[in-house]
Amino acid sequence: MAQLEAAFMSTFTIDTATSRATPSPVPGKRITVPGLRARKIPAGDGYRTEQPIVMLTAYTMRMAQLLDPHCDMLLVGDSLGQVIYGLPSTIPVTMEMMCAHGAAVVRGSWHALVAVDMPFGSYEGSPEQAFAGAARIMKETGCAAVKLEGGEAMAETIAFLTHRGVPVIGHVGLTPQAVNILGGYGARGREASEAQKIVADARAVADAGAFCIVVEGVLEQIATEVAACVAPPIIGIGASTECDGQVLVTDDMLGLFERTPRFVKRYDDLAARIGEAAATYAGEVRSRTFPTADQTYRPKP
Ligand code: KIV
Repeated sequence: MAQLEAAFMSTFTIDTATSRATPSPVPGKRITVPGLRARKIPAGDGYRTEQPIVMLTAYTMRMAQLLDPHCDMLLVGDSLGQVIYGLPSTIPVTMEMMCAHGAAVVRGSWHALVAVDMPFGSYEGSPEQAFAGAARIMKETGCAAVKLEGGEAMAETIAFLTHRGVPVIGHVGLTPQAVNILGGYGARGREASEAQKIVADARAVADAGAFCIVVEGVLEQIATEVAACVAPPIIGIGASTECDGQVLVTDDMLGLFERTPRFVKRYDDLAARIGEAAATYAGEVRSRTFPTADQTYRPKP
């Protein structure tokens, strides 16, 4: 713990040749898949996690550097389709996008476990297709794990991957890549049959070997039940405080968008602050009050 606290005060040296960010002093080891998985232990009839797991999305090297000391996991989510690329959904996100951003996040972090989303169309066809996609992501980014969406239908694929050295994070409940089947991004599990299906999906993904599971956009009692009855840590988003950890899309949490989903808590209002900074800069450029002597080069005396 003392080592981690010291690391919070570390600075980063960027090697401009490789863009690798090296913290100084060099801190301890990265959180591992077994280390993360072991945070949830059997208790009574079910399981519990003493210290909730902190996860945020990151898509760039610099954001990874800033978030890394505070997070157990950084997720290079395919939400980057909307957040970074302005796409209408996660469906058009490509393997190239995930690999480029995944590599940047790994370069900018040293402490958190980095997981990268498998994009739509890169894993659903067969376990073999999924393995080829996951292997490419792991080789090109250096990440420790991949995340893929789906419950019972993906169990065979998850088992195939985990038996071949690919740690998998499952994702059940509201699965944004299935938006065309679901018909929107509303909370899932309002019907008893769908609630039962979500619990069955989580159990199937856990039994298949996922080392942790994201449960997104479900009625609170479903998330609470899943967290208590499955062995791997459950990371909630729009789920329940009883989950073993929480994840948010960082840009939502920082207030970079005017509209945020109901389940997001805004911890800042960066959109407004960036707007103010840009307006001040624009005013100073137009009134020729920037740059000043402090920002201009003069002959050395
Ligand atoms: O793509 C993403 O950012 C995600 C999180 C919302 C869990 O899958």
